[in-house]
Amino acid sequence: PRPILLTRHGESQDNVRGRIGGDSVLSDLGNIYSKKLANFVEKRLKSERTASIWTSTLQRTIITATPIVGFPKVQWRALDEINAGVCDGMAYEEIKRNMPEEYQSRKNDKLRYRYPRGESYLDVIQRLEPVIIELERQRAPVVVISHQAVLRALYAYFADKPLKEIPHIEVPLHTIIEIQMGVTGVQEKRYKLMD
Ligand code: F6P
Repeated sequence: PRPILLTRHGESQDNVRGRIGGDSVLSDLGNIYSKKLANFVEKRLKSERTASIWTSTLQRTIITATPIVGFPKVQWRALDEINAGVCDGMAYEEIKRNMPEEYQSRKNDKLRYRYPRGESYLDVIQRLEPVIIELERQRAPVVVISHQAVLRALYAYFADKPLKEIPHIEVPLHTIIEIQMGVTGVQEKRYKLMD
């Protein structure tokens, strides 16, 4: 069996401000996580001959990967966070106040709701297809450092969760989800590296 490690980037400055999307750098806590993650990966993959680190093209995932050394890194645009279109950079409260209809439509059908000029969860699921094909093809472990919506979709694929649950799956910050692909099926472990 070979592990796939899924994690969100360390806490970002936009996470602290409660803003969605954007391309901010990490908070102090987020930077601490990046070091703890590197430590964890080093120990966990010590006995592996090869492995690779996949990030999105957004700063917060690339910075989170920086302390990890000794493995090749690949940036995937398909691992970028859900595109919130006209709502990019807003807080949920602001969307609720300024665009109540958009807010309500998303609440009614979070899976299918597409942000104006942005994406829906279904769009994200579709663009992840090449990533999943490549993940399935890999023989060595892969560490995927990405974002909440994207990781919900990836996790759902491996854990075989129904579509309608995807937008509501819990993928907390500073936690590693380890998926083991074995002959008997998929096993999962979660490691919370910080409180
Ligand atoms: O808040 C962090 C974040 O990654 C945003 O950038 C993104 O829009 C959001 O989470 C996705 O989660 P949800 O679909 O629950 O709004």
